[in-house]
Amino acid sequence: MIPAPSSRFKNPRARFNFRGRTVSITGVGSYVPARVLTNHELEKMVDTSDEWITTRTGVKERRLAAKDEFTSDLGAKAAQRAIKMAGVTADQIDLIVIATCTPDMPFPSTACLVQQKIGARRSAAFDLEAACAGFIYGLEIGQQFIMSRTYDTVLVIGAEKLSSITNWKDRNTCVLFGDGAGAVILQNRPQSHGLLTAVLGADGTKSDLLKLPAGGSRCPASVESVNAGKHYLHMDGRETFKHAVQAMLGAAQEALRRCEIDISQIKCVIPHQANRRIIDAVADRLGARPDQLFVNLDRYGNTSAASVAIALDEAVSSGRIQRGDLILMVAFGAGLTWGAAVIEW
Ligand code: ACO
Repeated sequence: MIPAPSSRFKNPRARFNFRGRTVSITGVGSYVPARVLTNHELEKMVDTSDEWITTRTGVKERRLAAKDEFTSDLGAKAAQRAIKMAGVTADQIDLIVIATCTPDMPFPSTACLVQQKIGARRSAAFDLEAACAGFIYGLEIGQQFIMSRTYDTVLVIGAEKLSSITNWKDRNTCVLFGDGAGAVILQNRPQSHGLLTAVLGADGTKSDLLKLPAGGSRCPASVESVNAGKHYLHMDGRETFKHAVQAMLGAAQEALRRCEIDISQIKCVIPHQANRRIIDAVADRLGARPDQLFVNLDRYGNTSAASVAIALDEAVSSGRIQRGDLILMVAFGAGLTWGAAVIEW
């Protein structure tokens, strides 16, 4: 039996049923492009092996968007599936927030392009950049707009075409990433279950660890910047790894503490799908059992802001998550940024 909403959580920072508003995920959807790039294909492109990629990262294959398929296309397709599940019309959407670090263009925003593609004529729309933690940042932003009674229906998307900023000659990075999108519809559902808490964090002193050096105001596009490969993602993998474990662990523990729940009460932990070793290290320190983890990075690699959203959709559609289950989502990315959220499904 599903416990009655609001009876389970005493801590006011678990914002369930806060001021008579409960923010529920009423629809979830995802989309990944058709093209599969396997580790064996990568063996023919750079000096690597399926064995190295599998043991060091857990990735077996990833999806690649077509040349004429952009972040807004991936996001719009995921959004349409979430809209369908929620049973709303595009006209009911008040706000579109899209988390991405691979927008179609610096401006106009990818959110505006998605708005046009799904026909959400009434909505406000903006992009959000918090790298791999972007979807959790988006959930919190959507929740705040609904809690403040500014909006009733918010579409939050995580979408990436990371293949567009990947240097396919750099084995240190090209084996890690993939393209895809996930989306949720957030709505006020006072008598239902919903988002309990979200913890967000950032540390700009470590901004050099993971970056796209060119294409912004610091280093506008030029022949020199392109020749120097500055329009590709650059990463200090080893250092990023260390901070990823610490930041995800801290955010997850704080989220659980705010809700006054123990990790054993969580049905499903949905971590950012960057590296199997990062996921296992965080789960181990958190005291999560392997059967509590949802992992799909073997099929998609790291899809940055899309990763948690795609995993959430797959966990729901595969029946891993049932009504009333407690879910912990936790992510980490460039910035550095991190976030964790607890929801009662
Ligand atoms: N194939 C074969 N060998 C490789 C490959 C490869 N694809 N890539 C690196 N190597 C080699 C290195 O050159 C190095 O060789 P050396 O010892 O002769 O110098 C050796 O393997 C070990 O390299 P490390 O970098 O120490 O490998 P590590 O075990 O740290 O794994 C990895 C690298 C997978 C990148 C890991 O550090 C990692 O996952 N880091 C975190 C990445 C992450 O979480 N990013 C998140 C955010 S992404 C975003 O925000 C967009």
